[in-house]
Amino acid sequence: MPRQITYLNGEFVPHEKAFVHVDDRGFTFADGIYDFILVHKGCLINEEAHLDRIDYSLGEMQIEWPLSRDDLKTTLREMVRRNELVEGFVYMQFTRGVAPRDHPFPPKDTKPTAVITARHMPFATWEQAAKGVGVLTLPDERWKRCDIKSLAILPNILAREKAVRAGAAEAWMFDEDGFITEGPACNAWIITKDGTVVTRHLDRAILSGVTRRKLRAVLQSQGITLEERKFSVEEAKNAAEAYLTNSPYLVKPVTKIDDTVIGTGQAGPVTLKILKAYRAALEEQCDTRSNQ
Ligand SMILES: Cc1ncc(COP(=O)(O)O)c(C=O)c1O
Repeated sequence: MPRQITYLNGEFVPHEKAFVHVDDRGFTFADGIYDFILVHKGCLINEEAHLDRIDYSLGEMQIEWPLSRDDLKTTLREMVRRNELVEGFVYMQFTRGVAPRDHPFPPKDTKPTAVITARHMPFATWEQAAKGVGVLTLPDERWKRCDIKSLAILPNILAREKAVRAGAAEAWMFDEDGFITEGPACNAWIITKDGTVVTRHLDRAILSGVTRRKLRAVLQSQGITLEERKFSVEEAKNAAEAYLTNSPYLVKPVTKIDDTVIGTGQAGPVTLKILKAYRAALEEQCDTRSNQ
C-alpha cells in the first residue's frame, strides 16, 4: 500500500504531516462543510452530484469555494492517483479558514481551508452487501438545517454511538411528531406491503443524499413506485421491508428496528432487487468512465 497522501490548501503532503492551525474555524466552531465520495475501480462515484451538494452547502454557509470546481475535480483525480486508490473513498472538508476566535465572519480576505483525505476500503461483496442490519430509533436532536452537510454533527455522533452500544449498526432518528427523519449518516426507507417504496420528502430536516437522488431513477427503471412522504416509527416497524442508503453502504437492508423484526428477518426481495440494480448502475458508471 502506498504512503497516504493528503491534500491541504494547494499542496499534497504525507498524511502524518498534514496539520491545520488551531485557530481554524473548523476546529473552533465546526464552521465548515464536508463531503465523501466513494471510489470504486478507481472511479469517483456520482462525482457531479457530490460537487453539486458541496456547492449547495458552501452557498448556504456563505463560504467561498477554496478552489474552483474544475480544480477540485483535477485534485480529486490526483488524490486517487497519488494514493493508488482503487477501492475506498475521498473525504473533503472545507472551512471558513483561520482567524482569531470571534463569532462573526472573519475579514473577507480570509482564505477558506481545504483538506482532502483518501482511504482504502474494500468494496462489499454481494454477500456482505445483502446482509441485513438492525437500527435503533432515537429522538432527532439536531439543528433545523440538516439539509446542509455541516461539520457540526455532534448529535449524529451521539446517536450513532448509542445505536452501536445497543448492538445496532445504525440509528434512525424521529422528529417531535414521531416521524422518521433519517440516520446520522444515511437516509431511511421502507417498503409497504403493496410494494411501494417510501422515503421522507426533501426538506430542511434531512440531507439530500446522493444515493437517495440516484436511486429515484433506479426505482423507476425497475417499475417500483416511490412515495416521498413522512412515515412514523410505527409504520416503519410494520413495513414489509426497510433499508437505508448512503455512499459507502449503497443500499443496506434493515431487518430489525429496535426489537421488532422486519419481514422475515432477512433482506427482503424488493430491497435486494433495488440493491442489485443500483450496484449494476455503479458498474456501468465505472465501465463507461462517464464521470472521469
Ligand atoms: C445525515 C446524512 N443523511 C444522509 C446521508 C446519505 O448521503 P449520501 O447518499 O450522499 O452518502 C448522509 C451521508 O453522509 C448523512 O450524513
